[in-house]
Amino acid sequence: MINRIFTDTIDRKFVGKEITISGWVDTVRDHGGVIFIDLRNMTGKLQCVFDVAGKDKEFKKLSESIRPEWVVEVKGVIRERPPESVNPKIPTGEVELLVGEFKILNRAKNLPFYPDDSVSEELRLKYRFLDLRSQKMRRNLLAVSRIMKITRDYFDELGFVEVPTPMLTKSTPEGARDYIVPARLKPGCFFALPQSPQLFKQILMASGIEKYYQIVRCFRDEDTRGDRQPEFNQIDLEMAFAEKEDVMDVVWGLVEKVFNEFAVKFERPAILDFEDAIKMYGTDKPDLRIKISPLKDISEIFKNTGFEIFKKQITQGNPVVCFFSNKNFSRSELDELVKVAKEEGLSGLLWIKKEGDSLKSPATKFLREEEIKALSKIYEAEGTIFVVAGKSAFFEAGLVREKISQMHGLREEGFYPLWIVNAPLFELDKDGKITSVHHPFTAPVGDIFNQDPLTLKSLAYDLVINGVEIGGGSIRIHSSDIQKKVFEILGMDEKQYSEKFSFLLRALESGCPPHGGFAFGLERFVAILFNLPSIREVIAFPKTQNVQCLLTDAPSPVSEKQLKELSIKVDI
Ligand code: AMO
Repeated sequence: MINRIFTDTIDRKFVGKEITISGWVDTVRDHGGVIFIDLRNMTGKLQCVFDVAGKDKEFKKLSESIRPEWVVEVKGVIRERPPESVNPKIPTGEVELLVGEFKILNRAKNLPFYPDDSVSEELRLKYRFLDLRSQKMRRNLLAVSRIMKITRDYFDELGFVEVPTPMLTKSTPEGARDYIVPARLKPGCFFALPQSPQLFKQILMASGIEKYYQIVRCFRDEDTRGDRQPEFNQIDLEMAFAEKEDVMDVVWGLVEKVFNEFAVKFERPAILDFEDAIKMYGTDKPDLRIKISPLKDISEIFKNTGFEIFKKQITQGNPVVCFFSNKNFSRSELDELVKVAKEEGLSGLLWIKKEGDSLKSPATKFLREEEIKALSKIYEAEGTIFVVAGKSAFFEAGLVREKISQMHGLREEGFYPLWIVNAPLFELDKDGKITSVHHPFTAPVGDIFNQDPLTLKSLAYDLVINGVEIGGGSIRIHSSDIQKKVFEILGMDEKQYSEKFSFLLRALESGCPPHGGFAFGLERFVAILFNLPSIREVIAFPKTQNVQCLLTDAPSPVSEKQLKELSIKVDI
């Protein structure tokens, strides 16, 4: 029925009107002779009253048999609720429907749980159809849909064009493994599912589509975590003749629209250099909500220390790093934090309580007079200084700073966006091989032909909100010479990069404009908006940590016949 009535539209204006409405039975309360059910459909709930007095036997028998999650259609008159049963929390809370007639459209049997019950995620995913009936999941899915609509309206107004790009494509390096699809007509060859439409959107720039956007599915075979799924959506964009600031403005415009739509409290975005982020927060994804001081390198204070633990680190050239909270932690809280730091893999966490001019710490007896003096001068207020020393001191201090803020609620409310800019172009991976920090199509700052590659910066910009990277982008290389040089630095010879990227190089040589772009992780954006622990909460049918769909039991074996057609032999 195209003109179905949704519950949230029903309010006092309907009083006295007869309507027919259908949905699921959310709850049943039998008050002996009068049965109340909350009828739920996509947008909310409506209280329906089955008053059996004066009704026939069939009405009484059927209405008493109704159970939660049955599907019913009820017809009746909307009336005001008596004052004592008004529920101001829901839009339909002032009215109810007095049922005249009803039909049971379907019964539900053997339900392992009811939609809003608190049950294991495994069960929720296996019976996703029940889980998606819950208020929270419905809200999340409606929010995703709403954001997609806002996105399309926004880009449309700015004159962007949505161009679908292929799902069966050639692998593009985004840092993860590809999902591959066998090509039946070219035995032994495979398509890759796109990790992102990166190269297609650049080709579109060379094609004269100057403002491109797309809400697009991406696939990455990487370890699944709370904020990662093997398939997810990007809000992807690319602009020709654009500078870094142009792209950042367009991106921020959309974030602002979404934040306003959901009426959340937010700050304007800060901008921070990648290197400063690491030095100040120990991460390139700082959470600016945290009400604890940034990190400080205090190695200088301990250069001649007799305190063995620090001495050892300093002689190895490793830093000593601290941060400060004006919270007065109790001794047991501090002991707990030291324990947690160890659990997080830190070799140690030293705390120093500052009260007036005096310092209290398990280490004070090992420190020299001038070290204590210098330490007490760093922060004016009273509170607690935490110190971490070692090769990865910045990273570890950042980790424990974050943990402390989480455990003790030392965070502001609201949304704190941050642009991370000027990241290095390259870094060394764990095997000592040069890789791109972003992707190989990111434009360098500096002289790529003559400079040590590891000293080059990039024209990249990542958007971090409350400690989560919700998107990233860059100005791209539009000169084929620079692009080839990047491929060479990454260890590819001419034959290798031509095999993979000749289509890109040809396009760059065809008269390709300067261009840049960005991609949001749609699910991450929504998860941040509702402060959800995992993006699985905003995906209708997500995969588990082991990349399985518990609803359908995918992945599953295929038939011998299918394999044969694809010229594939399985060897496990
Ligand atoms: P990047 O790889 O940084 O950039 O991805 C952009 C954004 O996509 C989201 N994201 C994910 N979300 C869920 N699950 C995943 N497995 C996952 N991987 C990434 C993140 C991330 O910030 N083509 C470039 C963008 C560009 O340069 O324009 C790209 O894909 O929110």
